[in-house]
Amino acid sequence: MAFTQAVFEECRPSWQSSFSPQARLRLGAVPLSVLADCPDLELPEVARQYLSANELEHWAGFSRKKRCVEWLGGRLAAKWACAKFLNKGTVHWQDLVIRNEEDGRPYLNTEAPTMAPFISISHSGPLAAAMAANFPCGLDIQLPNAKIHTVKKCFTSPEEESLMKDFLPESFTETERLTMLWAAKEAVRKMVRVSPLLGLLEIRLIAGHGGCGVPEEPLKLTCVSGREQDGCPPAITVLCFFADNLAWAMGCLQNISQG
Ligand SMILES: CC(C)(COP(=O)(O)OP(=O)(O)OC[C@H]1O[C@@H](n2cnc3c(N)ncnc32)[C@H](O)[C@@H]1OP(=O)(O)O)[C@@H](O)C(=O)NCCC(=O)NCCS
Repeated sequence: MAFTQAVFEECRPSWQSSFSPQARLRLGAVPLSVLADCPDLELPEVARQYLSANELEHWAGFSRKKRCVEWLGGRLAAKWACAKFLNKGTVHWQDLVIRNEEDGRPYLNTEAPTMAPFISISHSGPLAAAMAANFPCGLDIQLPNAKIHTVKKCFTSPEEESLMKDFLPESFTETERLTMLWAAKEAVRKMVRVSPLLGLLEIRLIAGHGGCGVPEEPLKLTCVSGREQDGCPPAITVLCFFADNLAWAMGCLQNISQG
């Protein structure tokens, strides 16, 4: 697919090594500028090439160009990740249909649901990205923005801020530390299938191990939720790093090695 780049698989082939061998994961990403820079008349043509009739109808309902581009980018990235996961030779993109459950969670609509990967989608700043995996997964990307300081009480505590300071090298700014923690908690929310979704303050950071927050040496953050509900594991670990000025957080349930 011309619009997607397997950013980590091609540029950083080792990214999967932090997950346990049972995990099968594929990660796709679409630089949104390639869609945003399309002349207005060409964008529907691109959409028609990749989207099913229902997806196209949904897409045509967005009024803001930013949302059109983000949603389409997320779909393209998710379709790419699913095609790779399913090891499809020739891909009919319009047949790989991504839908959202009532609560917004994306899934691959297929006649063989047992073969279908779990998927997670995120978009921020210049990129849309999606992950397909054989376990429930969560992906979040976040462009750092100073506004995060004004909302930090809504998602973090002074204890967590101090933990992040301990876990990351001094070269990380406070904005970057907060952004990484935010992305980690959003990835956890997307991964854990409970209703209602876990709240950001309900998710508590308790440990960090592994690397220094770069793609080659990601930081592994472990959180607990305290919610006792089916589908809510006692502890959840996500892989976090900064790449190209975006905070990345990703995980799939049960499967990040603790090394
Ligand atoms: C979705 C949410 C968890 C994270 O969103 P975010 O960090 O702001 O934005 P991101 O770009 O990283 O993620 C958006 C993607 O998350 C996915 N998503 C939405 N709801 C989700 C859920 N309940 N669980 C997992 N993934 C979800 C979607 O694929 C969405 O992309 P799409 O709309 O293009 O399909 C957050 O927006 C949220 O808490 N929403 C509240 C639930 C809600 O309002 N759902 C909508 C009901 S109609």
